[in-house]
Amino acid sequence: MYLFRRFLEAVTGPLVFCVMCASAVMAGTSNSLMDISTDGTLLVCSNRDNGSISVIDLTRHQKTREVNVGHLPEGVSFLGDTHTVAVAVYAEDRVDFVDTNTGQLVGSTDVFDEPYGVVSNRSGSHVYVTLDYPGQIVEIDAESRQINRTFDAGAFARGIAIAEDARRLYVTNYYTAQLLAIDLETGDQIDEWTGTSYDNLCRQVVLNPHREKAYLPHLQSRTTIAHGAGSIFPYVAVVNTGEGAERRRRRIKMDSFNGAQVTSNPWEIAVSPDGSRLYVVFSGTNDLYVSKILDDDYWEIEFERHVRLGHNPRAVRVAPDSKTFYVYNALDFNVVAYDAETIEPIATIGVCESKLSDEVLTGKRLFYAALQPMSGRHWISCSSCHPDGDPDGRTWQNPEGLRNTQALFGMAWTHPIHWSADRDEVQDFEHTIRGDLMQGRGLINGEVHASLEEPNSGLSAALDALAAYSNTHEFTLSPYAKTGLSEAAERGRELFFSEETRCATCHSGPFFTDSTTKQLHDVGTGNADESEKMAPAYDTPTLLGIYRTAPYLHHGMATTLEDVLTTQNPNDLHGKTSQLAADQVDDLVAFLKSLPYEDPQIAAQAAGLRRVEP
Ligand code: HEC
Ligand code: HEC
Repeated sequence: MYLFRRFLEAVTGPLVFCVMCASAVMAGTSNSLMDISTDGTLLVCSNRDNGSISVIDLTRHQKTREVNVGHLPEGVSFLGDTHTVAVAVYAEDRVDFVDTNTGQLVGSTDVFDEPYGVVSNRSGSHVYVTLDYPGQIVEIDAESRQINRTFDAGAFARGIAIAEDARRLYVTNYYTAQLLAIDLETGDQIDEWTGTSYDNLCRQVVLNPHREKAYLPHLQSRTTIAHGAGSIFPYVAVVNTGEGAERRRRRIKMDSFNGAQVTSNPWEIAVSPDGSRLYVVFSGTNDLYVSKILDDDYWEIEFERHVRLGHNPRAVRVAPDSKTFYVYNALDFNVVAYDAETIEPIATIGVCESKLSDEVLTGKRLFYAALQPMSGRHWISCSSCHPDGDPDGRTWQNPEGLRNTQALFGMAWTHPIHWSADRDEVQDFEHTIRGDLMQGRGLINGEVHASLEEPNSGLSAALDALAAYSNTHEFTLSPYAKTGLSEAAERGRELFFSEETRCATCHSGPFFTDSTTKQLHDVGTGNADESEKMAPAYDTPTLLGIYRTAPYLHHGMATTLEDVLTTQNPNDLHGKTSQLAADQVDDLVAFLKSLPYEDPQIAAQAAGLRRVEP
């Protein structure tokens, strides 16, 4: 088959390929933080740290403008063959439409929460956007900017691609790397391709323009092993999307794809429109792999070249003629153009001025780096488990017991940190860097204090910078309380603050925690895990943002908030809940899911609380 196809190409090559090319050059068929217009003249990228998008004129390799869109923009896509883009403004729950010729905002659409990936259909009449939380797709009419339909798409939907004939959408789930196919006519889920239970952090899906294949970059988080050479692995999954196809999902290890070179945190993939090449960027080790796409169903891709990139590359896109490709180095704030034949850089285009302080930028680069001095074996960076400050949705088997990865939101207000409050400053993560998990050289010159009590701050500017960055993550308001608390949540609020349940005795103050008092509490959760070394008392966690951070409790054994209040609290040691009727539990959960419904920093400042300063 392979040979026959090659023969056909040799004979009819130009003809067959032109027909295919015409269909392949359309902008925005798969989600990315960068897109190229169908006519190949413009590139747009979203600048997460700057709250903006930048437009680059590809005929001159020059930035033409930067347009502010709002807090934490992610996916961006041209609409059909126009010069208008749709951009997902992740933290403001909005999709903005911007005319890149003029820089004008031409409209916007409010969505429930966390828009991430954006694609448009061929004519540009409709835009499809994944909502990371709560795992949905919205179909937006590009003209009226109204939401036509909403489809369920599992939990935490990120990657999205639209099939050539626009009959199907493909969607990836962030915390499982599962791929779903959705029928665009009915909105029903019609197929799914599941990987292993370890598969994680899949932000994208890319379709092969000529064959029924989808490619997904993702990690494996092997939670049973808290060791630098066995916990986190980089993959590209290849899925045969054809009906009834065999060997339907295969994963290709990216840490042994080029000999012994270890790469980490594959962020995005691009397939060249001529279908010959696959490009992958690795945001942890700052690498690019260029591979040849094979016409088989076995090896799928063959290594061609390795390119060292700038800091934290997050996107790659190929020009419609396949002759140039572009890489977005997020923490260098530039786009680099490469000649696809020589794989040499041909232009570096600054896209925006960094708005981060020098210290936070230094810390952020370290946080994302799986290179020395952070990581000895190059598999793991801090961001492998705390991507953009989010949890990785996993419970790890740590030496001290099972530990659910915490969100870093609001951490500057809720020190000490860790479920056991054993660390009083982020600088103590020097132990994590030098320990078995990361095996890095570390950031302190010389010995690190063995005891966690003695301050490690002030010993290394780089370590202080890592702490400064880690402490920048703030809470975003709950989508469940945009118009205030619902009636159920109001009733839940009464219960929460009642004498009977006692919830607010520990979950107190603007952050719903008494963490800063350094008291630990035994709430009856210490016996469930036999490997536990620090039972029975734990630090009270904040309850802000828990609507999106399942599973719960230090050991992650509560799948839902209901479980925390019921099955995981059999003896009323964790507040008094056994007397609550089922609808009261529902009310309490409705309240918990509404947190935060107002900016906690305002109340915190009023109460004279102070955030940790580096
Ligand atoms: C293998 C996954 C993994 C890696 C890699 C990792 N962490 Fe964590 N992190 C966790 C888990 C699990 C917890 C909860 C541990 C506990 O409480 O004992 C956690 C907790 C934290 C907390 C406490 C948050 C809070 O609110 O209490 C901070 C801060 C943190 N990590 C920062 C870092 C930094 C900085 C790095 C890189 C040096 C890093 N982590 C690397 C998994 C990881
Ligand atoms: C005696 C102090 C105390 C009281 C009272 C209390 N909590 Fe907690 N809460 C804790 C501690 C400590 C933990 C962490 C326990 C663990 O992880 O094993 C926790 C964990 C939680 C969690 C899980 C958070 C997460 O991120 O995983 C939720 C939800 C929660 N509490 C809600 C409540 C509610 C609702 C009430 C009232 C019914 C309540 N708590 C009463 C101390 C308390």
